[in-house]
Amino acid sequence: MKHSIFKLVSSLAILFAITSNCKIMGQTSQTDAAIYKKIDEQIKQMTLEEKVGMIHASSSFTSGGVKRLNIPELTMSDGPHGVRIEQGRHWDAGNVHVNDSGTYLPTGVCLASTWNPKLGYAYGSVLGSEANARGKDVILGPGINIIRTPLNGRNFEYQSEDPFLVSKMVVGYIRGVQDQGIAACAKHYLANNQETKRGSINVLMSERALREIYLPGFKAAVTEGGVYAVMGAYNKFRGEWCTENDYLVNKILKKELGFKGVLMSDWGAVHNTMEALWYGTDLEMGTDLGGVKYNKFFLGDTVITLVKKGIVDERLIDEKVKRILYVMYKTHKFDKRPVGSFSTKEHFATAKKVADEGIVLLKNNNNILPLNKNGIKSIALIGVNAARLQSEGGGSSQVRTKYEITPQEGLNRISGGSITISYSPGYEIMRNGTANKQLIDAAVEAAKKADVAIVVGGWAHGYNNYAWRDNAYDAEGTDKPNMDMPFGQNELIEAVVKANPKTIVVLMGGGPIDVSGWVDNIPAIVQAWYPGSEGGNALAEILFGQINPSGKLPMTFPKHLSESPAHALGQYPGDSVNVLYNDDIFVGYRYFDTYKVEPQFAFGHGLSYTKFSYSNMNVVPGNQSATVTLTVTNTGKVAGAEVVQVYVKDDVSTLKRPEKELKGFEKVFLKPGESKKVTIALGKDAFQYYNDIKGQWVLEPGKFTIMVGSSSRDIRATKGIEIR
Ligand code: BGC
Repeated sequence: MKHSIFKLVSSLAILFAITSNCKIMGQTSQTDAAIYKKIDEQIKQMTLEEKVGMIHASSSFTSGGVKRLNIPELTMSDGPHGVRIEQGRHWDAGNVHVNDSGTYLPTGVCLASTWNPKLGYAYGSVLGSEANARGKDVILGPGINIIRTPLNGRNFEYQSEDPFLVSKMVVGYIRGVQDQGIAACAKHYLANNQETKRGSINVLMSERALREIYLPGFKAAVTEGGVYAVMGAYNKFRGEWCTENDYLVNKILKKELGFKGVLMSDWGAVHNTMEALWYGTDLEMGTDLGGVKYNKFFLGDTVITLVKKGIVDERLIDEKVKRILYVMYKTHKFDKRPVGSFSTKEHFATAKKVADEGIVLLKNNNNILPLNKNGIKSIALIGVNAARLQSEGGGSSQVRTKYEITPQEGLNRISGGSITISYSPGYEIMRNGTANKQLIDAAVEAAKKADVAIVVGGWAHGYNNYAWRDNAYDAEGTDKPNMDMPFGQNELIEAVVKANPKTIVVLMGGGPIDVSGWVDNIPAIVQAWYPGSEGGNALAEILFGQINPSGKLPMTFPKHLSESPAHALGQYPGDSVNVLYNDDIFVGYRYFDTYKVEPQFAFGHGLSYTKFSYSNMNVVPGNQSATVTLTVTNTGKVAGAEVVQVYVKDDVSTLKRPEKELKGFEKVFLKPGESKKVTIALGKDAFQYYNDIKGQWVLEPGKFTIMVGSSSRDIRATKGIEIR
């Protein structure tokens, strides 16, 4: 009952936000028919040169407009977790609000770890609002590529190894952005699952892997999120560049999914005029052919010549212009948008909430956490990441923020001076960095003297755009060389825990790291991702129990890289031409569970300071569907949130299917002693699979097992059903 009131109140709040937003905009939405009528009129008035001027960039982050007809430029901005540092012609785009000090939201992988789609909406709203305030039209996010290998340098921007979780999280994000009158841009379409050779590699995967694993996030972005823009990836797919790929763009995205918006290229991802023209590219971005600033494009002068010579039908160009204008109408480019705001208290509060709910407690032996403020007098804080700013690293997603609270600042703030907190770096970020004995000795000395040692390490963002500049790894343009703790951190952690058994390890980074050497000796481990502007506060409040952690892993943490499916079954990073996804649909836990490989930390795992019990599970089968009900009770002493996960197994199938697949989840907030009935509906999608022999989705009637649990490896109740 309480929950339904909560649900009602929050739905009303969202509804209010949406309607009040429309009021601010002072306009009602126009029908597509009315929009297309206006567009046809505009196109009729345009010269060929004006049309072609619109289908390629006019500066590094703007598309061309037509001044004569009052058609403006579209201004893009990365994305995905903040409105990025100004560059290119942002400055003279007539924007008086330009200000670099935006909100740095926790990166995509932290958002996904909240398993809370409502936060996706709040997150998107912040981006939309800040985009408005800074005169942008398109946020270049969300990044939704499937996390196939732990090595991908951009995993931190992405969300999950699981297509269902990705699909649920992106819809909120997109609506949040677009309800502010700004276009979101889902990227990178498709199979940009590694940075190594991203500009040349040809991805080969089965139709089944495409349909079941790599496409669903984009499908949800279009069909449920109504996304206005999609960015084609750098790589090739089955022999054709993704941005100019007839199958992916024309056949699937535009025809099958009914996408009406703009397919823009990634920056410099167009390679061929004819292919871009015919195979679906609407807007060419980032090309700078011949070193002359933004005046040479594949979709530039050549196109004018081709049309004039009668080789290309002008209607092909009209179609692209039509899509660009459609996005302008949908984002109220020709009328009023909210003015937006940036760096507000509310925006930072959203960043904090996402970090609060996204940080994951991986291990907590003997309840060493939370720390008791009155029980400890000193902390030895160790590790570069405790004091390193992360917002301006990582590549194109870098954000210049008004402030970023580091873990050190967060801990200092929470201790309020009542606890002595020493700091020692313990290691150095440097190319091929190995253990630094002096730094380790200093950290050990500090740990010996303190009640508790907290090591904040893991990966870090590469600065100056690219990882290879300082080799911190989580960055665009390069993958990690391996999954090992870099810079001698294994030696550091082993030495520190010897000196002080009360050692807590906090890991930052976009994904798993090999902790197998010391995991059994460390009583508590926290995965903090890149937690954004308020990350240090969220982390400190979690460590001290002011916030009860509720994040769950959106990807499996393998013990060793070699056990991860892309490396065990498939290819990575491929040969000089192709990468073959032989791991097929067995990505992430689909592999670990089916092939019985023990992970270090399972998909969906995350601890709490309270305990939850599951009872009264029931499943009522319907017509190609089922309804799962159960009761969840907080049996502990503090309030907390549990993510109830529903997995489905097809007991008998013609083609091999995974041991289990996530098909539903709900995040439940419970006070101590409180119980709640959870109802999760499973539609047809929960039972069918893609049969690539038949070339279609099939639901094979028969026995299925429904599992509910607290992680993919912590199943609390199971029920067999028959689906007809
Ligand atoms: C990245 C995109 C980004 C674009 C513009 C490219 O290098 O792959 O994700 O949106 O640059 O900065």
